[in-house]
Amino acid sequence: MCGIVGYVGEKQAYDILIKGLKRLEYRGYDSSGIAISGDEKDLKFYKRKGKVAKLEEFIGDRSTKGTIGIGHTRWATHGPANDENAHPHASGDGNLVLIHNGIIENYASLKKELEKRGHKFLSDTDTEVLIHLIEEVKKQENVSLFEAVRLSLTEVVGAYAIVVMDKNNPDELVLAKKSSPLVIGIGDNDFYVGSDATPIIEYTKNVVYLEDEEIAIISKKNGLKIKKLNNQDISPTIQELQMKLDVLEKGGYPHFMLKEIFEQPKTILDCMRGRVNAQKGFVSLGGIEDYATKILNANRIIIIACGTSWHAGLVGEYLIEDLARINVEVEYASEFRYRNPIINENDIVLAISQSGETADTLAAIKLAKSKGATILGICNVVGSTISRETHAGAYTHAGPEIGVASTKAFTAQVTVLSLLALSLAQKKGTIEKSKLNRLLFELESIPEKVAEVLKSDDLCKEIAAIYKDVNNALYLGRGYSFPVALEGALKLKEISYIHAEGYPAAEMKHGPIALIDEEMPVFVVATKGPSYEKVVSNIQEVKARKGKVISIVTKGDEDVKKAADHVIEIPHTEEQFAPILATIPFQLLSYHMAVMRECNVDQPRNLAKSVTVE
Ligand code: AGP
Repeated sequence: MCGIVGYVGEKQAYDILIKGLKRLEYRGYDSSGIAISGDEKDLKFYKRKGKVAKLEEFIGDRSTKGTIGIGHTRWATHGPANDENAHPHASGDGNLVLIHNGIIENYASLKKELEKRGHKFLSDTDTEVLIHLIEEVKKQENVSLFEAVRLSLTEVVGAYAIVVMDKNNPDELVLAKKSSPLVIGIGDNDFYVGSDATPIIEYTKNVVYLEDEEIAIISKKNGLKIKKLNNQDISPTIQELQMKLDVLEKGGYPHFMLKEIFEQPKTILDCMRGRVNAQKGFVSLGGIEDYATKILNANRIIIIACGTSWHAGLVGEYLIEDLARINVEVEYASEFRYRNPIINENDIVLAISQSGETADTLAAIKLAKSKGATILGICNVVGSTISRETHAGAYTHAGPEIGVASTKAFTAQVTVLSLLALSLAQKKGTIEKSKLNRLLFELESIPEKVAEVLKSDDLCKEIAAIYKDVNNALYLGRGYSFPVALEGALKLKEISYIHAEGYPAAEMKHGPIALIDEEMPVFVVATKGPSYEKVVSNIQEVKARKGKVISIVTKGDEDVKKAADHVIEIPHTEEQFAPILATIPFQLLSYHMAVMRECNVDQPRNLAKSVTVE
């Protein structure tokens, strides 16, 4: 996600902004920029693709004089990473500049209206539309910047944390927040702004966290004022920061991986934003819409990926074949590219990659492209190499995933695949309206159900303590939960270094059951669904051989509770969405076992976040 910093006071703003942006580098970004002004009203702004060091190099000895300023690190959502799309963005008349973290969902319709009124845009971003809207409202209504921002935001749909600066009024910054975080630091006679407290904490421990739909003005002369978007006055609650800097960077969590596990209610919501509306029976992946006919008429869809993304692809196969009745094959990219596969123009290839830089996946789609296949992508990093290699695609909008072990990216990938399968099924008419309706409403409820599953963290920690010293583990699942078993095993082995294998539950009797003894914990997904009874008998087979069973069950399940050694309950959901919920306890169990084994959870040995080599 993007990083925001700001300053207004007596000190020179430049050093505070640059240092603040560097504090936010951990959030991941692809470009950065600053705007600075002062009593001479000489607003200047600089922005560059690449790291903050590139921005500093570009600024060189250009003027950075001024005691008010804003700064931004961009994690691209709309428009690739380049100088033009970097923030800040300016109004048409150059008097206003704005930085933004979030997504303006209705930016296209706002942009069309503004273009009719003569506004010209320099970038592909949704953010630039917002500053032109504020400029238009300020002029038309002849109001203050604060009021123009407030009125404009009542027309905006989406998530935002914004800071706006006016060249002609270099004493104040206007801020607003909805869904994306924004913090104000209260100095002696100055104010600091940050997406979180990391750029602020070295100057002051006194902060105000803006709440959703709050808008604030900070100025040297008049101090801090906060209102709700509906104009109701808010009295600021000043909190004193207790956390240390390195803990702050992880949002108060001990590791990025745990922070990212707990971000999943929000990242899944962000992933669905603007793509589903159950009330209206709407489900669509904008970026892939133009290829819908091609997909519906395709011979087959070949999903290509590696690691966790391959597991997401396997869920995708079950979803698309089950709901849209389109033939799907899932291929390990590294195998596909070397086995002289049969590929033709009628094939759709779907690459899944969090980083968008995995060498095997990139090579595999280049091979498929050279043979005339249509290449689609599901990536998390906007403008990544794989995303640029595809004909079209959908971003997962999960924000930067810092922990090497993929967690929020996996559930976001499965969410996008669920949206794709439902959208194709709707177009193809392979799903009854009532079932589509039921599934869309259920999908919209998933973020809050994920939040409920996260409440089992303490139980997962207790169970992890019992099994943290085992040498082997088995993961079992059937149907939609078979990929969850694979993913659970991968999570455990890659961060705790315990050998673990995932298997279809029915396969156990074809060999793995020979491994079962009292030393072997068996993690079983036994949620309610078509194969529930069969999984229960698999559990009994394990118990009959003194194996230990830790089972993920649907809330209220009594049968498995009698048979298993431990159960972790998740809310009831449709079998199609069980992979999203059932994966969470496996993420938590692996995390806690790895921590208890004093492993480096965020950077496990021998692993890289993105395998850009073959
Ligand atoms: C998963 O936890 C691992 N980090 C790894 O398997 C990863 O999923 C794989 O390398 C694929 O990466 P990608 O999604 O960035 O292509």
